[in-house]
Amino acid sequence: MSQSDIGLIGLGTMGAMLSLNIADNGFDISVFNRTTSRTNEFKAGAGALSDKITACETLEALVASLKTPRAIILMVPAGEIVDHQIAALRPLLDKDDQIIDAGNANFRDTERRAAEARAQGVPFLGIGVSGGEEGARFGPSIMGGGPKEGWDRVSDILTAISAKYEGTPCATWMGEGGAGHFVKAVHNGIEYADMQMIAETYGIMRDGQKMSAEACAAVFDAWNDGPLKSYLVEISGKVAAATDAGSAAPMLDVIMDKAGQKGTGRWTVIEAQHLGAPVPVIEAAVAARNLSALKEERLKGEAAFGAAPQMLPDDALSDDDLEQALMVGKIMCYAQGYALLNAASAEFKWDLPMADIAEVWREGCIIRSAMLNDMASALTQDAGRNLIFAPYFAELINANLPALRKTVTTAMAHGLQVPALAAALSYFDMMRTGRSTANMIQGQRDFFGAHGFERVDKEGKDFHGPWGGQL
Ligand code: 6PG
Repeated sequence: MSQSDIGLIGLGTMGAMLSLNIADNGFDISVFNRTTSRTNEFKAGAGALSDKITACETLEALVASLKTPRAIILMVPAGEIVDHQIAALRPLLDKDDQIIDAGNANFRDTERRAAEARAQGVPFLGIGVSGGEEGARFGPSIMGGGPKEGWDRVSDILTAISAKYEGTPCATWMGEGGAGHFVKAVHNGIEYADMQMIAETYGIMRDGQKMSAEACAAVFDAWNDGPLKSYLVEISGKVAAATDAGSAAPMLDVIMDKAGQKGTGRWTVIEAQHLGAPVPVIEAAVAARNLSALKEERLKGEAAFGAAPQMLPDDALSDDDLEQALMVGKIMCYAQGYALLNAASAEFKWDLPMADIAEVWREGCIIRSAMLNDMASALTQDAGRNLIFAPYFAELINANLPALRKTVTTAMAHGLQVPALAAALSYFDMMRTGRSTANMIQGQRDFFGAHGFERVDKEGKDFHGPWGGQL
């Protein structure tokens, strides 16, 4: 019996789609799922690709069916299940067989698993895979992490199955240990922020301008033909245009306004706090999801205080204003995401390939957008510079900032909620203020705790104010 090129454990939606993608690219793959019936059904349903798929009913059979040195992808839910799976699999493997965790792992778990694997002298990779079901089937964006030689062993398969941007594969090795999963977490943080800002423009249209879902859909569709061209704007148009078969109402009108989350956006914010890297747009997006979940309390709030949204005057905000506001918001959010990646790269000594990160996000992943190509160019020029200072983006900011300011102030004046767009504007305003108000914070800290401060007119770090006797 001929042996498979690679194995995969976990035939949930993502695992099943990734397996079909691997088979479709000419590789033989062995698959295993905890529920045997699922494994057999999967092979039976694979049509013409079935010949390339070996369905294994036990882990031993899976291991025996693979070419050596073996490579086995785990596509199981992130968390303890990954540890259990590794513990069950490792004793069956040879020393040079490689386990690849392709789930949405917390990078700290990946770092730990990588250290454990290193101690045992066995190869382990943690790779971030983005693109949802369709991406997994027809070309995801892949962010690899772990030993470079481990990546090189499977890079032919991973690049073959990845999305292509004008022929360039969207699959790159990001660095050692948890680097791939860290980059994937930041991708998801940006994903949350991108989604939230789009939702805020939808809120202005729906609540401020009383536009129908269909009318909102037309605006998103138009934006998708311009500088905001992106997967998330495209699907927002499709979501807004859809009708509920049962009630014939716009689908959006029957979807409950409570956003789910599996935690990756939250991880981004937590890590940003650990690193002291400000990501306020992403923080606002995560907080907005948490607030959305407080449906009962929000209903109480509306009953107690009245619904805030008032109609905007007809000419208050145009589609162009919202489009331009979203453009600047997006630049601020990415600038923060890349600054966080730079901070993590230095802290964890990963030497993250900043321009490559923008390049692998150009196709396949959820945040793919036309703007990412320009970001890749800006990061190629200078990977360490905040994106807002790249001449191309500085010009875009200058041209479109008035629309962001107008959108945020108008929305806020009318009680419409725009937390992420407002965070983007405040970030910009802080970043272009040479003399901040932190001198007051320093004065307060010194007043109540004698923490000391620096002065603008003298060298040294431990000056104190004249409030000694006032405690
Ligand atoms: C991707 C996505 C994916 C994520 C979902 C849901 O890149 O394909 O980021 O990995 O799991 O988008 O995430 P939440 O449930 O946290 O919204």
